[in-house]
Amino acid sequence: MRTKMVAGNWKMNKTLQEGVALATELKERVMNPKCEVVIATPFIHLATVVELLKGSPIHVAAENCADHALGAYTGEVSAAMVASTGADYCIIGHSERRQYYAENYDILRTKVDLALENGLRPIFCIGEVKEEREANRQNEVVKAQLEGSVFHLNEENFRRVVLAYEPVWAIGTGLTATPEQAQEMHAYIRSLVEKKYGKAVAEDTTILYGGSCNAKNAAELFANADVDGGLIGGASLKADDFTTIINAR
Ligand code: 13P
Repeated sequence: MRTKMVAGNWKMNKTLQEGVALATELKERVMNPKCEVVIATPFIHLATVVELLKGSPIHVAAENCADHALGAYTGEVSAAMVASTGADYCIIGHSERRQYYAENYDILRTKVDLALENGLRPIFCIGEVKEEREANRQNEVVKAQLEGSVFHLNEENFRRVVLAYEPVWAIGTGLTATPEQAQEMHAYIRSLVEKKYGKAVAEDTTILYGGSCNAKNAAELFANADVDGGLIGGASLKADDFTTIINAR
């Protein structure tokens, strides 16, 4: 059985003190989750939040890592540094990174490799923009994203990757993909994994849905056979809502 997961992506929200308060609240509420729970925090929160969550089932992720191993890259944070905080996961390829920081397939492939080399599990994001969906090009878009940045991995490494389908038109817009749209795309993504790595790997691959997933619609989305959980933005910033979503999985 593949891992079911609910992951929160705090993005560029919460000061350190606010982040500590939210993580503390989550630690108190999330005792025996039925799924893997992850929170992705800004870099500066990582070490503190990992320490705070000792003894809790909640895992910690970075939202990004550098595309170089180390050296003269002022302002960057390497995968090794992320791993040294005790974080387990690293989001890579979020559409906001692709869009605002021009992260292309090659850069993201390097980040995936560096994350894996440093023992981090990538949560790799894929998804089409509105114009691509309107032109019915969503399948070719996600296929190219997978081929460009993760399908070079060997089976052992690919098994450590969590995929997150995040249609860009649904992120932060309140426009959620319908459960049918999500299921259709997740089944397609799983078929691509099967073609590349075989049925057993495809069956074991965790594929999350992200994009305006909230306390109200999570259960309906998670009820689909190929939707293994969610990558939650806005709704992960409130302990109540995030806990409700975890319990929906
Ligand atoms: P929202 O849940 O705010 O739409 O964000 C989704 C997302 O981008 C998670 O990575």
